[in-house]
Amino acid sequence: MDDQLNLFNRLQELRQQIRYHDYQYYVLNNPVISDYEYDQLFAELKQIEIEHPEWITPDSPTQRVAGVASDKFVKVFHPKPILSLSNAFDNQGVLDWFERIKRINNQVANADFVVEPKIDGLTVVLHYRNGVLVQGATRGDGIVGEDVTTNLKTIKAIPLNIPLANSNLQPPSYVVVRGEVFIPLKEFEKLNRKLEEEGEKVYLNPRNTASGSLRQLDPSITASRPLTLLTYDIVQIEEERPSTQLEMLNLLNAWGFPVVESIHCPDIASVLKTYQVYLEKRDQLPYEADGAVIKLNDLNLLDQLGVVGKDPRGMLAYKFPAREVTTKLLDIGVNVGRTGVLTPYAILAPVEIGGVIVKQATLHNFDFIREKDIRIGDRVIVKRAGDVIPYIIGPILDARDGDEVVYQPPKNCPACGQKVEHFEGEVAWYCVNAACPAQLVRNLEHFASRSAMDIVGMGIKLVEQFVEAGLIKDAADLYSLKKEDLLNLEGFADKKAENIINAIQQSKRQTLPRFIIALGIRGVGEVAANDLANHFGSLDKLMNASQDELMSIEGIGPNIAQAIVDWFQTPRNRELLSKLKKNGVWPIQEQSTFSEQFPLVFQGDTFVVTGTLEKFSRDEVKDFIEKRGGKVTDSVSKNTTYLVVGSNPGSKLDKARSLNIPILNEEELIKMAKG
Ligand code: IVH
Repeated sequence: MDDQLNLFNRLQELRQQIRYHDYQYYVLNNPVISDYEYDQLFAELKQIEIEHPEWITPDSPTQRVAGVASDKFVKVFHPKPILSLSNAFDNQGVLDWFERIKRINNQVANADFVVEPKIDGLTVVLHYRNGVLVQGATRGDGIVGEDVTTNLKTIKAIPLNIPLANSNLQPPSYVVVRGEVFIPLKEFEKLNRKLEEEGEKVYLNPRNTASGSLRQLDPSITASRPLTLLTYDIVQIEEERPSTQLEMLNLLNAWGFPVVESIHCPDIASVLKTYQVYLEKRDQLPYEADGAVIKLNDLNLLDQLGVVGKDPRGMLAYKFPAREVTTKLLDIGVNVGRTGVLTPYAILAPVEIGGVIVKQATLHNFDFIREKDIRIGDRVIVKRAGDVIPYIIGPILDARDGDEVVYQPPKNCPACGQKVEHFEGEVAWYCVNAACPAQLVRNLEHFASRSAMDIVGMGIKLVEQFVEAGLIKDAADLYSLKKEDLLNLEGFADKKAENIINAIQQSKRQTLPRFIIALGIRGVGEVAANDLANHFGSLDKLMNASQDELMSIEGIGPNIAQAIVDWFQTPRNRELLSKLKKNGVWPIQEQSTFSEQFPLVFQGDTFVVTGTLEKFSRDEVKDFIEKRGGKVTDSVSKNTTYLVVGSNPGSKLDKARSLNIPILNEEELIKMAKG
C-alpha cells in the first residue's frame, strides 16, 4: 500500500514539475532544464499512467495530445458576447473618440489608459472550472463559437491548470479568459523554409495558417504546428473581478497565463505617444500586430460606458498603416535554391510599404501563380508583415486592360540551362544538375551560415565572388584558399583577405549537429540534425545508417530518411566529405549519446561569454555549458549568472561589473564544471 501511495505522490510531483517547466519554456521563454531532462520526466509520468490508467486525469500533461479526431466541431454559446473593437486610423480619430466618451461620462476626463499591441491572430475563449481547463472555443460570430478544446489543449502555452503549481493563489471557481492564438513570425518562416526544402507547398500567411491549424479535425495536426497564446481579458469570473485592466493582466500573469505586453498611460497625450512607440517597434514584435488597442484602465468606468453594436465604447483599436499596397508586376524572376528548387519571385514597380521600398516579393511557387491567375503586367496586392519577406496576395482582376501576359514556368534552369524536373507528389520544380552554379552558391552560403559552420563575414556576396572567380568548386575548396588568392578580387585589401581566411580556418572544428546542418541535406535543419547527432554520435555512423534505422528516430519520417541515405550514397558527396576530412574539417569531439549525460552542475544558470578563449571555440564553450544544464545568452542583463571572460573582452565586461555579476575565467569555469 505504501508503494502505491509513493507512486501516486511521485505521479503528482511529476505533473507539477512538468507544468512548471512548460510554463518556464512556453510562457517565460526561459527553460531551466535541458530537453533531455524534460523528456525523462515526461516518460516517467507516461509510464506510471500506463501502469495505472485509473489515475489519468484530463488535466495531466500527457493528455495534451490525447484527443481523437472528430468529424465536426460542436457549436457552443459564449457566456457573454465576445466583443470586437471600433477602429481609428489617425490621432484625430483617437481624440474624437476621447471627446465622445468624455461627453457620455465626464469621469473620462481624468481617466488613465492601458495600451497593448493588437495581435493579428485568432480569438479564443478559455473556460476554467476550479482551475481546470474545461472548454476552449473560437469566437465565431461573438455569440456562438466552435468547441476546439481538444486542439487548444495541444498548445503548450495554454495552461491546463491554474494557478501554476506552488503559487499561493486559490484556483478561481469559474473563470473565462480571452486571448489570441497565433504563430510567431519566426516560427512561420521556419515552417515554410522546411516545407520549401521538402518540395512541399508553403503556407501563404501566418494568420490563415494559425486559423487552419486550430480548426483541424485531427488534434495531432494542430499539435505539430507552432501555435502559441497571449491573453488580455477576463470575460467572466465568479469571484470578485479586478477593478483595473492592469490588475487584470497581473492576475492572468499570476495564474500562469502568457499575457500581452502593455503600457500604462496617465492621459490621452501619452496614449498617442505610446502608439508611436509600438509603431516603431512593430517589426521587432514576435507576432504580426495590426494596431494598438487603447483601453480605459478603470473597468467599472468601461462597463458604465457600455457597448455600441459589438464594440465596447471604452476601447479603441488604433490601426497601424496598412502594409498591403498595390503595384504593377513588371516581370517574374526565378531563384534556384540550394536543393535545386525553383522559386518564382515578383519583380515590381518599386513601392513603399511601411517605410521600406519594396521591389521584389515572393510568389511562393508556380502553382500559386496559376491558381491565382497572376499575369505579367497585372496590378497586384503586396503585403509586408514584420521582417517576413514581402509576398504577393493576388492580382486585381478589375484593373486589367488586356495587355497582361500569362506566365509560363521555365522548362530549363535559369542558371545552368539544364532541363527542370518534377517529382511525383511534390509541387516544386527542380534543377537536378549537381554542378549548377546557382545551387553551388546557395549551398556554400548555407554551409558558411551561422547555424552551420559559422564562417564569420562569409555571406552570399563573397560566395558569389569566389565562385565567379573560379576559386572554389565545393565547400572543401574554401579551406585551401590562401590570402594571395583573394588579393586580386575586387574590394579585397590585405586586412579583409586575412580576416576571411582566418574566419574560414577558425570554422574547421564544429560540433556534429552543426556539421550535419552544413551538409545541406534536404529536410535536415537544426532539429533533425540534433536528433541525428544524439542518435548516432559520429558522422561515420550516420554515413552508413540504413533508411530503417533513420526512421526509428522520432521526428525523422520516410522522406527525410530517404534524402539522408541518398545524400551519403552520392559519390560526389562522399568525395566532398573525404576532401573536407583531408583539409582538417571534421566534427569536434563526437556528440555524447543520451546515455552519456553530464552532471547538471549549471542547471538554472545563465552564462554570457566575452573575449577569445584558449581552450574552447565559441561553440565548444556553449556546448560545454549546455551539456551541464546551463544556458548561454548573447547579452549581459540582471538575469545573467556568470560572465566568462577570455582575452580582449568587449563591453560586456563593463556591463557585468556594473551589475555585480560574478566573472569567471576559463580555468574557473572548468573547475566549477567538475563540481
Ligand atoms: S480587446 C472586449 N486586446 O482584435 C475586448 N483585442 O476586434 C475586445 N485583439 O478579434 C478585444 N489583440 O481578438 C483586445 N490586446 C488586445 C488584442 C485584441 C488582438 C483582437 C481581438 C479582436 C480584434 C478586435
